[in-house]
Amino acid sequence: MSKQRVLTGITTTGTPHLGNYVGAIRPAITASQDDSRDSFLFLADYHGIIKCQQPELLRRSTLEVAATWLALGLDPDKVVFYRQSDVPEIMELTWILSCICAKGLMNRAHAYKAAVADNEAASEDPDFGVTMGLFSYPVLMAADILMFNASQVPVGRDQLQHIEMARDIGQRFNHIYGEHFVLPEAVIDDSVALLAGLDGRKMSKSYNNTIPLFLPEKKLQKSINKIVTNLLEPGEPKNTEDSSVFKIWQAFATPEQTEYMRQQFAAGIAWGQAKKELFALINEQLREPRQRYEELLNSGDEIEKILQHGAEKARAQARPMIARLRKAQGIEAISQVSPGH
Ligand code: TRP
Repeated sequence: MSKQRVLTGITTTGTPHLGNYVGAIRPAITASQDDSRDSFLFLADYHGIIKCQQPELLRRSTLEVAATWLALGLDPDKVVFYRQSDVPEIMELTWILSCICAKGLMNRAHAYKAAVADNEAASEDPDFGVTMGLFSYPVLMAADILMFNASQVPVGRDQLQHIEMARDIGQRFNHIYGEHFVLPEAVIDDSVALLAGLDGRKMSKSYNNTIPLFLPEKKLQKSINKIVTNLLEPGEPKNTEDSSVFKIWQAFATPEQTEYMRQQFAAGIAWGQAKKELFALINEQLREPRQRYEELLNSGDEIEKILQHGAEKARAQARPMIARLRKAQGIEAISQVSPGH
């Protein structure tokens, strides 16, 4: 039986935080160790330039994201780990797909619609600030996925529509040119997708409430101390349901440790003490990867080599795929066209 092919991309426009770790990185690394699957993981830098036009930030984030995954144990010999921009065939496929993708489908994309709605609310031109890149973002994402015939795509719920669009686009191509693409399915794990942030809302860069994953020890402690709590005094029983401290604890704890903290809450643990224990729990798990991360940040050449090797593996599949697709479309060397037409 052939292996399940699982593919996911990480946009390189920020420093990974605890929410990324719990929701995406940790499950993806665990999954990549499963031999019945074939994992493709890539740095989506061409998606990055849609929103981020600050070269220094993009460069830094690409390094940080790559170093983070490697520090946490991603084994580049077991997975195909690459940078999107190192596989130019993905851009070729983006154009090929653009030519069969209905504009109306893109009009319905949530991100585009939200931008238009904001503009209308501000009495601006509806397309103010909307680039062709933002508009066709889902086509690039479809190319990422369809290129490698991935059947499963683990993503956050916010990306579900993009996966459905990739299916639509793949299906349309197959309909016109024959069966070339596997239609992907989104894999959404709602149980791990949400980690509470400093203010109790979902931890997210856009809410500015994140705890960066590899903060130095002292700063991690400081950041944890900033988690918002209520005003209950030591000795007063505390509710676990609405507590970020508890939710973050739970995301890192064993079931026994979670039970322990539940009892401490019921017994009225002081917030200061709970945060101290939370710091110890997280810090213990991050200490070693943090050390590797620091080392990797200073070994750009080593990371680059790993990514180049990954790109070679990806291109070994992308090149013949593009050749087949072009041929199906009638784009090929003239000498191969049979005479008499
Ligand atoms: N758009 C995705 C995100 O913001 C990242 C991404 C780009 C992606 N290409 C992909 C995810 C292909 C899965 C498959 O999270």
